[in-house]
Amino acid sequence: MRDSIKVFAPASVANVTCGFDILGFAVDQPGDEITLKKSDSGKVSILQITGDGGALPMDADKNTCSVVIKMFLNDLGIDTGIDIYLDKKMPLGSGLGSSAASSVAAICAINELLGKPKKLEELLPYAMEGERVACGAAHADNVAPGLYGGFVLIRSYDPLDVIKLKTPDKLYATLVHPHIEVQTKDAREILRKRIYFKDSVKQSGNVAGLIAGLLTSDYGLISRSMHDYIVEPTRSILIPGYNEVKDAVMDLGALGAGISGSGPSIFALSKDKITAEKIALKMKSVYAGFRIESETYVSKINQAGPKIL
Ligand code: HSE
Repeated sequence: MRDSIKVFAPASVANVTCGFDILGFAVDQPGDEITLKKSDSGKVSILQITGDGGALPMDADKNTCSVVIKMFLNDLGIDTGIDIYLDKKMPLGSGLGSSAASSVAAICAINELLGKPKKLEELLPYAMEGERVACGAAHADNVAPGLYGGFVLIRSYDPLDVIKLKTPDKLYATLVHPHIEVQTKDAREILRKRIYFKDSVKQSGNVAGLIAGLLTSDYGLISRSMHDYIVEPTRSILIPGYNEVKDAVMDLGALGAGISGSGPSIFALSKDKITAEKIALKMKSVYAGFRIESETYVSKINQAGPKIL
């Protein structure tokens, strides 16, 4: 059996416009890398975190990675010591599933290091607990795509019912991360507690349409369905340049665009790489116009999930 392991887990786009807390997909990059080493200490310890600018807790009871690893070891009754080295290769508070990438990387790495005592689907509740530590809510729409790869529907949380959806081969995602920080916890707290019945009807139609469009590779249907009547009106206020970016990418031929997770990142879907790359340039130039630095990513839907390095 191994004494150490290194795992990459991908970033993800949650909500995908109309599917608040129930839809998400994984991308090829960015992502997080975690290295675990067995130790004789009998403790789970975080020895190093890089790429976070000192923002993440080194306390093993507060960091998402160590919390999920401790829960896992506790459930299995294993008392081996584990040293954690986390390399954040993605921005924090970006809406790209940063805490989810850490949780997924951690749970996959410890399962692999211990010779896979649990099946893939049994790892999901642990990764969800990592989200609870990070933002107070155990939402699965980042961790499930991060763990399974692909486009994922969370049909139900209780009992947990997660379905990986087949997506068209040519689908590309473009992401822009403007250098503004929005904490998921805050972005959840500002949401309206009640919604109009008519908005719920429109939203349900769009979720159903988006899923049908993905399953049948009907790009027109995907495009018509990518609208959010419930969350976007409230959250977009937190994102300078949001409407300008969205309008510009739709003009360039995006199928649809929206807030990535809780923001501030914005994502767009397109049906070819050339459009996806043009969209990336446009997103960056819109933010340059606002004098806000940003980085962009272009990726197919990541079907692989975490990777052992
Ligand atoms: N569904 C979650 C939210 C995703 O929008 O709050 C957070 O990335």
